[in-house]
Amino acid sequence: MVNTIKKIVIGLTVISVSLLADMDRCVSCHGVDFEKKALGISKVVKNMSEEEIKKALDGYKKGEGGSAKGIMIQEVNMGVDTDAMAADIYNEIHTPGFHEPDDEFIFQKRLSVQTLHKIKAELKKATQEDMKKISSQIKSAAFTMYVYDKLLRKKVDFDSFKPKKLTLQDILDIVTNVKKCVDHSFSEDEIVKCRVEFLDLAGTITKNEEKKIKSKMKKAPIYTGAGAVDISKYINASHENNQTKQ
Ligand code: HEC
Repeated sequence: MVNTIKKIVIGLTVISVSLLADMDRCVSCHGVDFEKKALGISKVVKNMSEEEIKKALDGYKKGEGGSAKGIMIQEVNMGVDTDAMAADIYNEIHTPGFHEPDDEFIFQKRLSVQTLHKIKAELKKATQEDMKKISSQIKSAAFTMYVYDKLLRKKVDFDSFKPKKLTLQDILDIVTNVKKCVDHSFSEDEIVKCRVEFLDLAGTITKNEEKKIKSKMKKAPIYTGAGAVDISKYINASHENNQTKQ
């Protein structure tokens, strides 16, 4: 188990480090607080809203922009995604005394952003048949968050989750919300709130699946005629075992 976790951690580290947007690089052209016209031609990013920043970054991602777009296309392609990047830039400009969070925090944040971004994209084109795959992606992402985040482990109580009807749209709305929350988090205290919401989702999905399995077990035809062995006590015993394990 520990080995598996180690493998996951190493795998994810390799993917994510190459996707860190390094804000230190922007300073040389845009100024410390994005207060300059980069190379004398860009807009002053400090005067732009978060929406406008995101729109400009999305443009570069699609290959569109002004005469010097080539420079920024390169920058944007190094970044994880434009939602998170725009939130980072806007926050850095508008929070007095903003300190870049430590590398470990940025790494964990990027990891969450990237995972949520992927799940969101899958959900947008999903049909009911994809539910199983999406559920398992959500559960494994929740597990990764849970393993990493000490604060989160203190805040989540698995026994408190209850089954609840969820449509694909409900799930997309929750994931979109959680991702937005992560994009705008710049400290452990902020980000843990988003993760609690995500764990809630994963917990509800798990409980829904459990409920389905249980109702199937009840419906399963069990032979009760002459010579039948009473297996009810085994079914109950395995239930209890499962519950104590959680
Ligand atoms: C080598 C100089 C250079 C570096 C480094 C650089 N930029 Fe730029 N940036 C520019 C130029 C030039 C433009 C205008 C490009 C165009 O013609 O569309 C621009 C445009 C932008 C815009 C849109 C503003 C507008 O004019 O619409 C944003 C937002 C931005 N940069 C953010 C960043 C961030 C964040 C980084 C660091 C990750 C960064 N830039 C690094 C030169 C640079």
